[in-house]
Parts: sequence; C-alpha cells; structure tokens
Amino acid sequence: MYEHDVIVVGAGGAGLRAAIAAHENGADVALVTKLHPVRSHTGAAEGGINAALHPEDSWDLHAYDTMKGSDYLGDAPAIDAFAKTAPEEVIQLEHWGMPFSREEDGTVSQRPFGGLSHPRTTYAGAETGHHLLHTMYEQVVKRGIEVYDEWYVSRLAVTDEDDPGSRTCHGVVAYEIATGEISGFYASEGVILATGGLGEVFDHTTNAISCTGDGQAMAFRAGAPMEDMEFVQFHPTTLPSTGVLISEGVRGEGGILYNSEEERFMFEYGYANNEGELASRDVVSRAELTEVNEGRGIEDEYVHLDMRHLGEERILDRLENILHLAEDFEGVDGLDDPMPVKPGQHYQMGGIEVDEHGESCIDGLYAVGECACYSLHGANRLGGNALPELMVFGARAGRHAAGAVDEEAKVPTGPSAKSEEGGVDSPVGLGQVGDDSGVVATDGGALATPQDVLERAAEAERERIETLIDRDGINHADVRALVQETMTDNVNVFREEGKLKQALRDIRKARKLYQDVAVRDPSRTYNTDLVHTIETGNIIDCAEAITVGALAREEFRGAHWRKQYQERDDENWLKHTLYAWNGGSPELYYKPVILEGHEETYEPKERSY
Ligand code: FUM
Repeated sequence: MYEHDVIVVGAGGAGLRAAIAAHENGADVALVTKLHPVRSHTGAAEGGINAALHPEDSWDLHAYDTMKGSDYLGDAPAIDAFAKTAPEEVIQLEHWGMPFSREEDGTVSQRPFGGLSHPRTTYAGAETGHHLLHTMYEQVVKRGIEVYDEWYVSRLAVTDEDDPGSRTCHGVVAYEIATGEISGFYASEGVILATGGLGEVFDHTTNAISCTGDGQAMAFRAGAPMEDMEFVQFHPTTLPSTGVLISEGVRGEGGILYNSEEERFMFEYGYANNEGELASRDVVSRAELTEVNEGRGIEDEYVHLDMRHLGEERILDRLENILHLAEDFEGVDGLDDPMPVKPGQHYQMGGIEVDEHGESCIDGLYAVGECACYSLHGANRLGGNALPELMVFGARAGRHAAGAVDEEAKVPTGPSAKSEEGGVDSPVGLGQVGDDSGVVATDGGALATPQDVLERAAEAERERIETLIDRDGINHADVRALVQETMTDNVNVFREEGKLKQALRDIRKARKLYQDVAVRDPSRTYNTDLVHTIETGNIIDCAEAITVGALAREEFRGAHWRKQYQERDDENWLKHTLYAWNGGSPELYYKPVILEGHEETYEPKERSY
C-alpha cells in the first residue's frame, strides 16, 4: 500500500494545479494517473483561457457573461469565485513561464471568443492547452511531487454508511499498467478526482480516447450524485471525419461560417443577429444543424468555416496549428480552401456534485476540472472558460484538501441538499444489473483502520480483475459501440422524447451485455484491453445519467433542446438535476440554483446573442 496525505487522480491541468496547491500548503501529495501527465487531454485545448485582465474589462463582466452563457443554471458563488480569481491564475501561469502570444508592446494578447462581452481570451497560438500542461508539469517536477504514471485508478475506497453524506473516502485502488500490480493508495487528507471528460460516451467527439468518465462513474457508485449531466456541449467546429477540434479561435480571429449557398447563415437566417459566428456554442451548433436539416448543408453533413481572408501572415502567427489539423485530418489547406466543420461532442457541463471548494458530499472526496460540477457552466459553457476553471478550482481544492481553508461552502451537496423528488418515465429499469456497489463493507464500523478499508477495496478489485481476465465472454468494444451509436443518434444537439427513450433501452441492453464481458488478453502486464473494458462500464453509467436527466428535463435551456418544449421554463425548471446511485437503484432529484452572488443577485433574463 502507498501512503500520502493527498492523492490526486489524473494529471491534466486540474490535477497538476491541485497537486501544486496542496504541496504548497504543506501536504505530502501524489499524482496517480492513467497517462503520462503531458499526454493528458488538456494538451488538446486550443483556443485559450479567459481572464478579465484588460483595464476596461472586469471580473463582474466575466461573471455576468458566464451566468448568461449558463442560461442561468450556474451557481453564483462558484461563478463569482471563478471570475474573481481567473486573472491571478493566468498571471501565475505567465510567471511560471507559459509562452503566451503577445502584442507588439509585450502585453499578453487577448482574442474575442463566443459569448464574451470583451476580448478576454488569452492564448498561446492555437495550442494553449499543450503549453499550459507543460508549464505546470515543469512546476510539479521542480517541486518533487511524486507521480505514479500509467497507474489506472479503477475503484475508490469509501465507507458504507447508509447516508452518502456520512461516508468517508480513504483512498483509491489502482492497476499499474506496466506490471499488473493492483495496489491501494491511502490518502489521510483527501482524494481529488481530476479525471477529465467523458467524450467516449459519443462516437463523434473532440475528446481523446482516454476521456471515459472514470471519475464521474467511480464517485457515483460510491454515493456522490452526478449533477446536471443532461447538459452536454457540442462544439460547432469539428472536422467531420474524425471529430478533431478546429478552435473557436478561428472565429475569434474573424473566421466566417457559410452554408452550401455561400450564405453567411448566422446573420442571413437570424440565428444570432448581433454576434453572428461568435454567439455561444449551443446557438451556433443548432444553427449549423438547422442549415443541414433544411438542405443547405454541404454533402448533407457539414458547413464551411473560412479563414482565408485573414491572410497567411496572421494565420501563421495565431492559428498555425489549425492549418496542420485541417491538412492532416481532412486533407484541406486552410490557406486555399474553406474547412468542412460540423458539431461534435466537446465538453460535459455536468459532473460529480461538489461545492465551490471542490468537495463532494463524501468526506475527503473532491473533484475538479471537467469531471466535477460546481455549477460553474450551468446549461452551457463559454469557450475559453474550461482552462481557467481547472486552474481556479484545482488550486481551491488542493488548498482545501491540504487543510489550508476554513471558509464554509455556500453550495450544498449530497442528499440533504434535495429540495424536490424527481421522476422519469423510463421505458426500462435503470441502474445496476450486477452487484458491484463501489463502497467497502465496514462490518458496521468494526473494520479497525482506514488502511483496512483500503485493503478490502484492493482485494475486491483484485477479484474483479481476475474474473474479467479468467472468464470467457463478449468483447467490451461491442458494448461500447452500442452506447456510442445510440448516444450520437438519440441524445445529440436536438432531442426528442421517443429518441431519448430509445437510448435508455439501448443503454439497458448494454448494461446487461456488460455483465458478460471478458478481457481477451490474458496478460497481467500492459493489458490495455483490461483498462478499456473497465472504462466501458464507466461509459455506461455516464450515458445513463445524461439520458435520464435529458428525458426528465421538460424545457429548452442552453445546450439542452427539446422538440416538445421550446421555451426555457424558469418557473418549473430553474433547478439542478441530481442523479444518485442509491445502492444501485438510482434516484433522480433536484436542488435549487443559487443566484445570489458575492455582490449581486443575478436576475434570469432572455438570452440572445
Ligand atoms: O475552440 C476551442 O479552442 C476550445 C476552447 C474551449 O473549449 O474552451
């Protein structure tokens, strides 16, 4: 067993930032990660990182834009804390050596991004995430923070009290990919999940193959609810054949979207008369698909993004990476031709329910970055708000886990936050088919030490893995494909009741099939088939939470469009969705949105761009 004060799971931007903050506050911290840190998906972030740095800009404008972008489903304490702290985090990055793009006078450049009332997106060319990741990894190495890389965390060690709000997380269990060792990692102060997104739930996504919702699903099965999972962001500009991201930075620099009639449809058809291509992402993605559905798409599939008029010098200076992506993955030279683009899954607004310190209802269990939901993005995230989020909340959670913060959280979590029961007209049973609960039996508290809890969790995981490897059964890839196809066909940008129900039927089928999966590769070392098989179980849990939330929410808000419900309905739906495992029989319930911020109470307004 390995022992540390704080264990951070995942070493993308959020995990690295959390580890640095915990270390700076005196904790013995370790990163446990299934990838080498610089291979984390943060490295794929292109366009930039928002912060109100300019003298004419201000944190409260940033907060207001974020709240409006969220379609008023964000919680004000999280939004205000975020917008206030983003500038110091960006300046910190600059001091750590992040190679930001700059103006002639040396100041850090800022470009316009969708839904922002001021150009506040700082960037490093169109490979901002790559530089951010390397800058922070350097800081981790410099501080001598221990990194267990290519260790796949597959189970939490959480006690089994009836009320998840009374449980404690004592650590994690991980599989070392290189050796096959399965070991417990005891965390005396806290476990911080920073495992990233869940793009693999869909088959057209900008996300890396490693984004499989591991943290969300593990925390869910241990009793921490998933929040607002129905809100999935579809980025308007992904390459049709691969899902590779073409940054919003292209539109920020002046790139234009055209339909097959060579019309600038964002204005021509009134989708966003003021902001046009720089409306928020949900608006632009719907506009593109409407063009395709009304016969003005190209090859019935995509639209064109044109940046040729920006000129070679500016493109090479600010968007060079985009030229390479379009050429390598689509065979298009962006200097000579418009690029084909269509919406693709990009980001999950929902995640593990946590407060504004990143702490879940389970004592000692935190989540930060894309796997978490502190209700910062609500129903739609603004482009450029993900990278500052992982800096701001990574730092907050790291400090809190290290015991350096004693401020009470304003955002309530866990079953005690419930204000209203939910219900969903599901055509099939939901939740567990097998008996893998994810919590550790503590024999009514008789297990002597937290280390015993951890050892029991490790034992359970060894048994599960042996069974998966030893038995005969079906290939997880078929189960994963079933989920990905149904989610892409039925739980996409445009949603309707019949299709959502079809998705639930398919997910149930996948859940049953998953009971019989077996790992083909008998090896104990470098067994990536084993890792992918475990990931597929996580994908199923995430897909179900997304679809249940989507079917239950009978309104149109942010990224959640419903055919039968064409209006935002604040009277009935200004509330957060919670989906809790509840011993394998999931429960749906709601809690209020908090609009009372640090300095003002936000008033929901009509949202137009
Ligand atoms: O389009 C982009 O460059 C993505 C940025 C983001 O998701 O924040």
